[in-house]
Amino acid sequence: MTTISASEQLLIFDTTLRDGEQAPGCSMSLDEKLRVATSLARMGVDIIEAGFPAASPGDYEAVKQVAQQVKGSTICGLARSHAPDIERAWDALQYAEKSRIHVFLATSAIHREYKLNMAKDEILRRVHDGVTLARSLCVDVEFSPEDASRTEHDFLADVVKVAADAGATTINVPDTVGYTVPSEFFDLFAFLREQIADRDDIVLSVHCHDDLGMAVANSLAAVRGGARQIECTINGIGERAGNCSLEEVVMAVKTRPDIYPLFTYIDSTQLYPVSRLVAKATGMHVPRNKAIVGENAFAHEAGIHQHGMLQNAQTYEIMKPQDVGISRSNLVLGKHSGRHAFRKRVEDLGFRVSDQETERAFNDFKILADKKKEIFDADIEALVLRRKVTQSGPWSLTRLSTSSASGQASTAHVVITHDSGHEVEAGGRGDGPVAAAFSAVEKALGVDVVLRNFDVRNVSMGEDAQGDVAISLEYEQQEYHGSGLHTDIIEASVRALLQALNRVPGVAAVKPKSVTA
Ligand code: KIV
Ligand code: ZN
Repeated sequence: MTTISASEQLLIFDTTLRDGEQAPGCSMSLDEKLRVATSLARMGVDIIEAGFPAASPGDYEAVKQVAQQVKGSTICGLARSHAPDIERAWDALQYAEKSRIHVFLATSAIHREYKLNMAKDEILRRVHDGVTLARSLCVDVEFSPEDASRTEHDFLADVVKVAADAGATTINVPDTVGYTVPSEFFDLFAFLREQIADRDDIVLSVHCHDDLGMAVANSLAAVRGGARQIECTINGIGERAGNCSLEEVVMAVKTRPDIYPLFTYIDSTQLYPVSRLVAKATGMHVPRNKAIVGENAFAHEAGIHQHGMLQNAQTYEIMKPQDVGISRSNLVLGKHSGRHAFRKRVEDLGFRVSDQETERAFNDFKILADKKKEIFDADIEALVLRRKVTQSGPWSLTRLSTSSASGQASTAHVVITHDSGHEVEAGGRGDGPVAAAFSAVEKALGVDVVLRNFDVRNVSMGEDAQGDVAISLEYEQQEYHGSGLHTDIIEASVRALLQALNRVPGVAAVKPKSVTA
């Protein structure tokens, strides 16, 4: 068995902007990607996979901008194992302080036969050529045999040795379809480490998907087997059931040094604010019972637990909420609270905001305080994130009116204004006020969308609580998401719809006519 030495570092490779963003409805704008990358670097992530430059011009631009602007972390770009992809990746990455090219090629029998139509020797040749080319451009090269966990072990060992000989500095072993289990993955890593026992300069890395809910357990088993890099995403977002969650592995290693005597450079007090930033940027709410960053992660309801907690928090808490950046306060702000108290609370909540962002959020706070007696931490967090992350414009809501009566169709009327000053308006009918308002917006903008997901949550407590609406919609076979915040949930819903439509390329150019119901 591989022994872990206490002085060893566990590298944290974040792929929120690549594998995470690949999940349906999780796409982020360039500005959102830059904000997320900046926060990841500040939190201490070692490697940020910023995208797949050959996938689209948007991905290329995002990787290039992250490479140019984000300092401290290594910036990585994904490439298939062929020359145009690798050259494109380098084109975008060359500006980074530290860059890495991540080359991948599938190796399992099912992928070889049905996806690639390639024999084993051709795979080996492609791995050699791809890694050699990448190494001629960049000193830091990672290779991933896609679907490694379902690849024949002897062939996987051949692939790993070819990649190592061609100059790969990291070899990543993905459980692409979330099929493996901890004991099996531990054995696979111990086996692969053995195969390249003479190459202790090569870092073995693990990349797990969560189809059977074992991505974190499998990643940690791989660490016990010899992996020294974990690939993960914030909130575990990613293809299908998602990827290994960054906050969970980081806190597992930190909480159980007896089992994982390794260190990471992650500032764990940033986990909660970064989780919320990503949730807002992707429109994917964090489940309330999500480990580490969910709303209930540190809530104790049962009387017997509360009693224990009052005597000694360690009776029911294995981590302190402050360790992950959740600041507990009973402080409630209201309309008489000043700028100074507001700013202090924002900082205590772990957010770094510019003076301009604070000023805008403070103005929103004053408007909210007129409608809502008590402003809780969750309200402040929502206001800050709205100003910090969400894309605004070109279309914004100027006026909304709705009317409903039980047993009758609802009607709505909207006025929407473009950044250029152009105003459109329309009326709509529907089964309920939200459906009527959505129909009015679609008519006003001349678009026809399919609503895929609609999620309303209350922010904080009370009857006057703000509603936080997250939606995703389909338009011309693409999925877009948006979120909206307001004390009136119909208005929050319309804002969410407009934010999603503002992401649709071409909607800005639409010249709709005004239509009335
Ligand atoms: O899941 C996977 O196999 C991947 C590779 C590209 C690393 O995301
Ligand atoms: Zn993946």
